[in-house]
Amino acid sequence: MKLWGGRFEKTTDVLVEDFHSSISFDQRLHKQDILGSVAHARMLGSVGVISEEEANRLIEGLEGILQDIQAGKVEFEIGAEDIHMNVEKLLTERIGSVGKKLHTGRSRNDQVALDLRLYLRSEIDETKNLLEKLLQTLFNISEEHLETWMPGYTHMQKAQPITFAHHMMAYVQMFLRDLDRLKDTRKRLNISPLGSGAMAGTTFPLDREKVALELGFDGVTLNSLDGVSDRDFALEFLATGSILMMHLSRMCEELVIWSTGEFQFISMDDGYSTGSSIMPQKKNPDVAELVRGKTGRVYGDLVALLTIMKGLPLAYNKDMQEDKEQVFDAVDTIQKCLLVVEPMLRTMVVNREVMACGAKGGFTNATDLADYMAKKGVPFREAHELVGRIVLHCSKKGIGLEELGLSDYQELSPIFEADLFEAIGIEYCVRARKITGGPSPETVAEGIRVSRDVLEKLLW
Ligand code: ARG
Repeated sequence: MKLWGGRFEKTTDVLVEDFHSSISFDQRLHKQDILGSVAHARMLGSVGVISEEEANRLIEGLEGILQDIQAGKVEFEIGAEDIHMNVEKLLTERIGSVGKKLHTGRSRNDQVALDLRLYLRSEIDETKNLLEKLLQTLFNISEEHLETWMPGYTHMQKAQPITFAHHMMAYVQMFLRDLDRLKDTRKRLNISPLGSGAMAGTTFPLDREKVALELGFDGVTLNSLDGVSDRDFALEFLATGSILMMHLSRMCEELVIWSTGEFQFISMDDGYSTGSSIMPQKKNPDVAELVRGKTGRVYGDLVALLTIMKGLPLAYNKDMQEDKEQVFDAVDTIQKCLLVVEPMLRTMVVNREVMACGAKGGFTNATDLADYMAKKGVPFREAHELVGRIVLHCSKKGIGLEELGLSDYQELSPIFEADLFEAIGIEYCVRARKITGGPSPETVAEGIRVSRDVLEKLLW
């Protein structure tokens, strides 16, 4: 007999039994479900809806079930539909009819909203830990490479010289924002929906605040329809996770490019590379590629849940059962990616000489030559025009700007003096960019200090 079987004359079709059951995936919420029920039972006892003695029996029974589930001793039943009813059924089997009092003043609608909030809260905390580890590794790499000169790109064409530290610190800013968004998501998530009932609250004098406090929430939801209908917290997590994955994906894309034979800026450790079944020479950056690929999954999870929610009238609709697999998939994907990217970065070898050599070619100092002229009073637009012509001339001759003779420069403009060669030296070009946020080693070192501090303040 179903827990809701009273008004039915026929049994559920076997196809439907399987189709609508969520136990195969929502058993993942068993701990949150039981902790929520323990808090609910304790509160029922304290406000006198049930006796203290009954509450204690419920709590003991629930705790025993949790232990047995964790020890792998429980077999869930598809017929009991979901984790909520599986636990309730087990409870009644174990402690008798007092178990049937647990669901007083509660609905699976507020129960599942509670479980998902509790679950995501702890997964946000775990994601925070992984993100922190990744950030620490990026800080360490940056500190090591303050003077590792590298070419910066726009349009995948060499643009201006920077350092590897500066490049890595760009990702630090992205991941710090991700952490901030996670924290913000957690703040809005951490409100208890229990007491919303099916959708219209309850006539029982439940102490919602007591339950919220016991479960570590900062408050209670303020509208019972919204309490059971709201999945914004899950969407926010998926949106935040999608942006985080987009950052990881961009970084991985760069690692893939940098590890090509054409670039050779970095070499991945063997532990984070894989071979080919046919080409014996191959060492492929599969891990980075897979992170890039898995980004699509997380976007998919976000779009799926947005789509599931978009046409739902208030309040609970069974469509919402589809929320969980999206959330679980995103949690698994994001955490696995963070877990593997950190050691992949930590173990990669940075080929300083190749990078520095790359920083030199491709007229990366052309802007600095124009700036040199502008500092001597030539309007920047005119300087740009002249340097453009010098670049054209040099590229036809196959030489760099620093290889053109002073007399050649002076023929083009009398403002050129011998000091121009210092101004267009790659190292000088980087060191001179001392502006806040710029690539000079001292600026980046300061940026690392400030960002480490930002991280400390963001953590919770
Ligand atoms: N298994 C359901 C879910 O995941 C629990 C809530 C069911 N509520 C209901 N009224 N059928 O959403």
